Amino acid sequence: MKFFIDTANLEEIKRAKSLGMLDGVTTNPSLVSKESLSNQKEIERHYISICECLKNNENVSVEVISSNYNEMIQEGEKLSLLHSKIVVKIPMTINGIKAIQYFCKKQIRTNCTLIFSTGQALVAAKAGVSYVSPFVGRLDDISNDGLNLIREIKSIYDNYNFKTKILAASIRHPLHIIECAKIGVHAITSPINVIYSLLNHPLTNIGLDKFIRDFKSKIK
Ligand code: G3P
Repeated sequence: MKFFIDTANLEEIKRAKSLGMLDGVTTNPSLVSKESLSNQKEIERHYISICECLKNNENVSVEVISSNYNEMIQEGEKLSLLHSKIVVKIPMTINGIKAIQYFCKKQIRTNCTLIFSTGQALVAAKAGVSYVSPFVGRLDDISNDGLNLIREIKSIYDNYNFKTKILAASIRHPLHIIECAKIGVHAITSPINVIYSLLNHPLTNIGLDKFIRDFKSKIK
C-alpha cells in the first residue's frame, strides 16, 4: 500500500520522507492556505519545491480552484506543466467530470476529490480519472461509515477492472489506515501525526524502558 502525506508543508514532507514512508503528497486549497504564501507565483514555486522533494516515481496532487469548465482546463493544464510529478486534483462536479475526460484524453493524470458516495466514485472511474479520493473521516464525522464507502468502491472497481486507483483521504487515526490496508486500497493519504501514531504502542515504550533499566541495574 502506498503512503501519501496530506499536507502542503515542506517540513512535514521531509519528516515523512526521512521515515521512509513517503510515496506521494496530496494538497488541497485549505492546506495551501496554511503556508506563508501570498501570491500565485509563490504558490507555484512552492508546488515545484514539493515535487523536487520526491523521488521520480512519486507524485503530488494539486487542486484547481476554478469551478467553471474552461477555467478548470486552463488552470489544470498550467498546473500539469509546472512539474511532471503533478497530478491535477479536480472536484466531483459536473464540470469536474467533463474536465477529467478532457485531461484523460490528453494523458494528464487526475485525482477526483470530495468523493462521498459510490455513485460519485463510479462516475469518476467511467470518466477515466487516475485516482479517486473518498473522504473517510468527514463521513464518519456525520455518523456515516467512511470505511464502508471504501469497501464498496473497491468491490465495484474490482467487478469491472477499472484502472482508477483508490486513494483513501480524510484519514483521522491509525485504524482508518489498517482497515484501508485490509480492504486493499492502492493508497491512503494521511496527516503526519497519524503516520506517527501507527508506530506507537504503550507496551513498546514500557517494554523498552524495562529492558534498559534491567540491563543498567546489573551491568556497569
Ligand atoms: O486532502 C483531502 C482530505 O484528505 C482532507 O482531509 O482531514 O480535511 O477531512 P480532512
